[in-house]
Amino acid sequence: MKILIIGSGGREHALGWKIKQSPLVDKIYFAPGNPGTKEIGENISIEVTDIQKLLKFAKSKKIDLTIVGPETPLVIGIVDVFKKEKMKIFGPSKKASQIEGSKTFSKQLMKKYKIPTAKYNIFNNFSEAKGYLQKTKYPLVIKADGLCMGKGVAVCKNKKEAEKFLGELMINKTFGESAKKIVIEECLYGQEVSFMVITDGKDFLSLLPSQDHKRLTDNNQGPNTGGMGAYTPVPFVDNKLLKQIEKEIVAPTIKAMAKEDCLYQGVLYPGLILTKDGPKVLEYNCRFGDPETQPLMMSLESDLIEIILAQQKGKLKNKKLIFKKGFSIGVVLASAGYPEKYTKGDMIHGLGKINDNDVKVFHAGTKELDKKTLTNGGRVLSVTATGSNLEETIKKVYQYIGKKSVYFKGMQFRKDIGKNGLIFGNNYD
Ligand code: AMP
Ligand code: GLY
Repeated sequence: MKILIIGSGGREHALGWKIKQSPLVDKIYFAPGNPGTKEIGENISIEVTDIQKLLKFAKSKKIDLTIVGPETPLVIGIVDVFKKEKMKIFGPSKKASQIEGSKTFSKQLMKKYKIPTAKYNIFNNFSEAKGYLQKTKYPLVIKADGLCMGKGVAVCKNKKEAEKFLGELMINKTFGESAKKIVIEECLYGQEVSFMVITDGKDFLSLLPSQDHKRLTDNNQGPNTGGMGAYTPVPFVDNKLLKQIEKEIVAPTIKAMAKEDCLYQGVLYPGLILTKDGPKVLEYNCRFGDPETQPLMMSLESDLIEIILAQQKGKLKNKKLIFKKGFSIGVVLASAGYPEKYTKGDMIHGLGKINDNDVKVFHAGTKELDKKTLTNGGRVLSVTATGSNLEETIKKVYQYIGKKSVYFKGMQFRKDIGKNGLIFGNNYD
């Protein structure tokens, strides 16, 4: 089979790395890919939002299956365009992708179908929202309705912070149309867990639970980022809790989407928070998570392509996703300055030195120049390791980060990826 993977991050590199191992696969194209994906397939210089060009390419190469990494092409309707031309593609339709593309849509869906989430109000008018901020309780959370590259959410400790963020969204219009409507919701407390399933619209297969680390520095300090690392599985999500998440959140969401005439097919990824009153949905994503996919692909034993083909035929019911025993951890190495303005063009050392099958370095913001690999983005690499227990896997992954191994000038990374799993063990209070 010929596969096209759309995207250029660590998630797409990891998906490609996994898919390459399938006996069903002959060739993988990446659009646009990165220097890491070039090692396992062919990079095509087409942007992820150029749907017509992607379609033309897929048709000309007779691509058997297209897999979409990021949310933007999904939300703007790539799946509908491909399917209309009878091209096989993995991901939800434009209508179904609203579950990530519109927070007001997803909040209303959860309310209507009693899926646990934070209490909220929707505003489409600045003065009403400002009025609400005068009389409500703090802390609270303000969210822009649409996609904002992960920057459209602020947890506000007090009225001053809330008014400032509201002004940015609705007066300065920093995120344009994405913040025409906003959600203001109660602040929830607990451990956050990423829970992804592959669904054909009826049945679903759960991936292992994973945990992202969104803040820049150790102990969840510093600004929010696209994710500084992830590990899987999460020891404090035991089998009972997993079944509860499937029963109270995943299954009702898939059913609700079908009922709303938004049949959901692809990866459904509710971002959860484990509160004292049980798991609740913070947001939905309509795709694989980044950086969670990097460790997840290292732990996945099943052939992902075989599963996706069954999903395409609506035949997930008798399939199983098998994962290796043990843990996988990915630590993101980010450029100096990230998540604000960051440096580019620094030489990356040590990439060729790793000689351990349980360790992979997935590329994101890198570029190649004169056979050297340089930094070229905020999140540069995910150094990812797999092992039999959490403590050892943490040790292993960090062994490959630093001046003796993978290294670049000004590199930032968290030193506590996976630590929550050790601390909280089997309870999540
Ligand atoms: P979202 O894009 O909705 O997942 O929000 C981004 C991040 O903001 C989440 O990963 C949480 O850390 C935080 N967040 C969002 N909603 C809430 C909430 N209701 N209570 C506490 N934290 C939240
Ligand atoms: N891990 C966060 C995301 O993929 O949105």
